[in-house]
Amino acid sequence: MDNKPVVLVTRRLPAAVEQKLGERFTTLLNPEDRLYSSAELLNLAAQADAILPCHTEKFPAETIAKLPVRVKAIANFSVGVDHVDLQAAADKGIIVTNTPDVLSDATAEIAILLMLGAARRAGEGERLVRSQQWKDWSPDFMVGRQTTGKRLGILGMGRVGQVVAQRARGFDMKIHYHNRRPLDSEQAGDSIYHDSVESLLESVDVLSIHCPAMESTHGLINGKRLALMHADSILVNTSRGGVIDDDALVAALKSGTIGAAGLDVFNGEPDRIHPGYRELDNIFLLPHIGSATDETRKAMGYRAIANLVAIFDGAEPGDRVA
Ligand code: DGY
Repeated sequence: MDNKPVVLVTRRLPAAVEQKLGERFTTLLNPEDRLYSSAELLNLAAQADAILPCHTEKFPAETIAKLPVRVKAIANFSVGVDHVDLQAAADKGIIVTNTPDVLSDATAEIAILLMLGAARRAGEGERLVRSQQWKDWSPDFMVGRQTTGKRLGILGMGRVGQVVAQRARGFDMKIHYHNRRPLDSEQAGDSIYHDSVESLLESVDVLSIHCPAMESTHGLINGKRLALMHADSILVNTSRGGVIDDDALVAALKSGTIGAAGLDVFNGEPDRIHPGYRELDNIFLLPHIGSATDETRKAMGYRAIANLVAIFDGAEPGDRVA
């Protein structure tokens, strides 16, 4: 038995990532990619010095309290860390890291895809062709909304938000944003800062959400705020479902308070999402694939490994969040 630290990997990662991890650590892998229950997770963690989970594994305070003392780190394969109680981990002395930057391009691509899909009714069109219901072409057939030259509002102008803004400039979109603080002038370029969510919502044709899920952003997009958007506007979410009040969004899409939505993330995903979303035509839905490209998934894995190596070398990991 070697004396490499043991890392519990909760989901199957790209083969190259698992191989690289194995060069430095003893790995407890999940080749069948089964979703572990909390009990199974705790059981397996008994043999581990660190855990490399995805957002699909939850670490609320109760689970963290039960983790064996030998677990020193939770090195996430995700940028979002809302599945981990960071305070509970910090209180227990467990280091938590994430994988920022490397997924910004891939996630921005999906935000743009959602914007275009919602604007141009791509879901409806696809269903029509597949189901052999497409019978005609006419000047008013499947007329959607044009995004070229329109105003794009970015809620949360962090790494992903900034890439989305950059891509949208290619469509001549005018960028508006809300953040806790305005960007410095070089980063902001010609984008327009709004010091409140409300002001942003009133001023844009498309809203793209990029703020992290946390207590202060839970249900941020509620009925009152949706009512500030105009009737032709489009809402896009690639961050986390928790930022949206689903009942309010479904009602806004049904009543015409807003025009359309494109969602990649949901409360209750994958199988308990709001049933109203499935019934609406003016919504374009994807199954949480923001970071799902080969390059990005490998880069996320290597970033998690770099964090683990730093931790077990006694150095500060680059992406520490707790
Ligand atoms: C992330 O990295 O947060 C993605 O949503 C996948 O978990």
